[in-house]
Amino acid sequence: MKSSFSFLLIVLLQLIICLSFPGGGAAANLEEICQKASSSSVNMTYDFCLTSLQPIPGTREVDTKGLASITINLSISNFTSTREKIADLQSKATDQSVKDALQICSVRFGNGDASLKIAQTSLGQDHIQDALSSVRAAAGSAVVCANAFSERGIQSPISDTQDGFLLCNLAAYIIQLLA
Ligand SMILES: *[C@@H]1O[C@H](CO)[C@@H](O)[C@H](O)[C@H]1NC(C)=O
Ligand SMILES: *[C@@H]1O[C@H](CO)[C@@H](O)[C@H](O)[C@H]1NC(C)=O
Ligand SMILES: *[C@@H]1O[C@H](CO)[C@@H](O)[C@H](O)[C@H]1NC(C)=O
Repeated sequence: MKSSFSFLLIVLLQLIICLSFPGGGAAANLEEICQKASSSSVNMTYDFCLTSLQPIPGTREVDTKGLASITINLSISNFTSTREKIADLQSKATDQSVKDALQICSVRFGNGDASLKIAQTSLGQDHIQDALSSVRAAAGSAVVCANAFSERGIQSPISDTQDGFLLCNLAAYIIQLLA
């Protein structure tokens, strides 16, 4: 009796999971995704998730895969603007420690940008695990950049590293829903 009850419970749970994470077709529920993403990712907040995704046209119509793709694009835009900011700071920096940290950031954000583009391709080919490891690598780039400053006892002049990190983590969370 006990085992058949467990079985029923598992079937019910699976049904609930299927209903709450539509893989394709149905529009992704932004509020629900943001609620869950904020409770499962480091430093993610519901507001950051919603204010990042909500203004993008189509985020209320696309399915989960489409939302993952939009979030990767958002991460790419953020990495691109951060790279521009880094290049600008590099052209002005005089302090050697600052120059060293900026150089690390430049390389890492360049690699991160490339990883995000690979993630977009992998997602398009339904290679979910590859897409996931690429966005995680990009999130790691943002962390390495932030650490390059803190390790040198310098206040980071780039305020966006945390945004890049969070956007990549948000992309990772949404991609995971497709796995
Ligand atoms: C999370 O936020 C705290 C406080 O702003 C910061 O010190 C920490 O580095 C952040 N964690 C990551 C992984 O970015
Ligand atoms: C992502 O960006 C690429 C290149 O700009 C674009 O072709 C594509 O349509 C975008 N995808 C989404 C889902 O916005
Ligand atoms: C991304 O980068 C831009 C430019 O550096 C920044 O102003 C913005 O707040 C960042 N965050 C998001 C979520 O777009």
